[in-house]
This record gives sequence, structure tokens and C-alpha cells, in this order.
Amino acid sequence: MWRTRSCARRLETGSVCISPTYNELEIDEFTMISGATYHLQRQYGLSPVLACHEAGIFVRGSTRKDRHSHDDRLQAEEKITMKLHKLASPLGSEILDIDLSRPIDDATFRQIDDAFSERSVLVFRDQVMTPAQHVEFSRRFGGLEIHVLKQYLLADFPEILLISNVVENGKPVGIADAGQQWHTDLSYVEIPSRCSILYAKQIPEPGPDKTYGDTCFVSTAAAYDALDPEMQKYLGTLKARHSYLKRPHVRAKLSEEQKKQVPEVIHPVIRTHPVTGRKCIYVNESFTTEIVGLGKEESDALILQLCEHCQSEQFMYRHKWRVGDVLMWDNCSTQHLAVADYGPEQARLMNRTTVRGTAVF
Ligand code: OGA
Ligand code: MN
Repeated sequence: MWRTRSCARRLETGSVCISPTYNELEIDEFTMISGATYHLQRQYGLSPVLACHEAGIFVRGSTRKDRHSHDDRLQAEEKITMKLHKLASPLGSEILDIDLSRPIDDATFRQIDDAFSERSVLVFRDQVMTPAQHVEFSRRFGGLEIHVLKQYLLADFPEILLISNVVENGKPVGIADAGQQWHTDLSYVEIPSRCSILYAKQIPEPGPDKTYGDTCFVSTAAAYDALDPEMQKYLGTLKARHSYLKRPHVRAKLSEEQKKQVPEVIHPVIRTHPVTGRKCIYVNESFTTEIVGLGKEESDALILQLCEHCQSEQFMYRHKWRVGDVLMWDNCSTQHLAVADYGPEQARLMNRTTVRGTAVF
């Protein structure tokens, strides 16, 4: 079994590691951390990111098995020549000329994955995907979560959660509250999700000079960087409690059985991004209930101060949806808010997948 420094040193270009899950894990570059760290963390209970940082190397791994299966399917097909461009905010890149319903070769996927780590939000326009294709694309980023609100999962595709204000035969087809308070998905579980991938199926008609149902994102990494060093140091010593039941209307809707499935959890106030190593503020107004060890007044004031700081325009990208958009966001380095400015007659329907994450540190 590998341990910290020695594990990192063994990950050299071209080396092959043996693992019970993947049989072979071939390390093909020194450029970044991705599959290898995930794999090691899961298999050996290490924190390989820290291990690699400590040893001063960054590695990338992918399994031979994965690489072959994706590349075989591409066979003689042309390679993808997508275009990436950064949006004019501290987060977000748009990716054009890619069809997510088709297989994506490993080199292209790696570019997407790298851009995602760097920019925290990716926008793909004009996509037409079946639920199976949405799930398949999402799985490239990790295992998928099945949401606790089983009543809003797509029939035959429990990996897809419906977010919608549409009511059919008197029944809501999805979660009507798209997240209308700032939050990051699943911060209330012990291993929060890595990212969420939202596919726009129906969007309210835009007016002459306004769109409806936009989603705002902020970079919690940029927000951390903007804090003064003393504050960064202090926050680095703190932990906070998160609970799905913070919002009374959510609490009211859950059955006792569902409530039991979401016990509260404690996370560091500042968390480290598992791929980039950037520090991120990990306190959000929807789920963070308390800073551990502070009195209620001081705790509430600090939560409010951090949330207001994160929500500043300078860290923000506001997405104006079009049908066919696929947008993914990083649940460590961002917070988001669904703007609730449309009525029940303006149908909005989104399909969401949620990719599993790794331990918070
Ligand atoms: C979500 C979410 C935002 C939106 O799906 O987690 O916050 O605008 N959605 O639908
Ligand atoms: Mn959300």
C-alpha cells in the first residue's frame, strides 16, 4: 500500500499501478491531478492531493480500460475540434463545437476536465441529448448521486433529478424551488458532490430586454483570495455545521424517513479544492447553520458576513439560459442561486445529474 510521499513518488510517467478496481492505472502525464488521486483516495484512504502537493508533483492518471473503451468507440471518427473561451468573469468558460450526445475521446475529455477545474463553470450550447446520453456524459466525471427526493427522479433514470415549476395532472413534475437562495449542492452531506450538470429542456420566454429564470454563480475561490491574510488565517481554524433542514419549507416537506437520511454534518469553513489546491469559502446561506464553537450571535454574524462577501458582483457570472444549454458547476469552488422572477405560467424544466465528490479537507 502506498503512503503519502512514497505514493506520490511512485506515480511517474508511464508507470502502471495495480488496483483492485481498475487492474491497471497508467500514469501518462505530470501535468495535473485527476483520476489517479481520486482512485488512490478511494482505494487506500489517502489524501493523494496533499501527498502529491507535498512531493511537489502533479499527476494525471486514467485507466487503460477506460481509455480503450472510449477510443475504440470513436474508431475512425474524426477527432473533436471544440472551441473554448473564457467568460468575462472570474469563473466560467463556454465550449462550442462539441456534441455531448456523441462519444468524447479521452484527449478531448481531458481538455474539458482541465477547463472545468480551472474555470469552475462550463457552458455547452445547443445540445440535444437523451437522458441516457446525459447520464453517460456525467459519468465521465465520477459516480452519480441519486437524490433523496425520490418523487422527482426521472422515470427509468434515477440519476436524473427534475427541477421544474411545471404541474401535470395536479402533480409537480420536479422540485419547484430551483435553489432560490445562495447555496452549493449537497454541502449538507459528509461527502458533498463534485459537480452538478444541468440540461435546459424548457426555459421561460424572454421578454424584449429581459430573460427569466437566470442562474447566478460566484467563485468561492476568488472570494477567498480577496480576504485579507489575517482573516484567511482565522477562518482556516474554523469548522461549520451544515443541515439540509435549515430551510423551514424544505423541512416541512420531508417525511420522517427522508429527514433521517440527511443528518447534519460538519465541514471546514475553508475547504481545499481537490484538484487545483485552491482554498474556497465553504459556508452558504441555505445550509450552513452554525460556526462550531462560537456563540449564536457571533456565529450568525460571521455566516452572514461570509455569505455577503461571496455574493459580491465581482466574483459572479450570471447565466441566461437557452433551451439546449448544458451547464456544469463545481460544488467546491462555487455557490449558485436560481433567480425566481418567473410565474407558474412560464414553464421551466431542467434535468440535473449530480456527480459524487471526495472527502472534504
Ligand atoms: C440545482 C440548482 C439552479 C437552476 O439544480 O441545484 O440550483 O437555476 N438549479 O435551476
Ligand atoms: Mn443547486
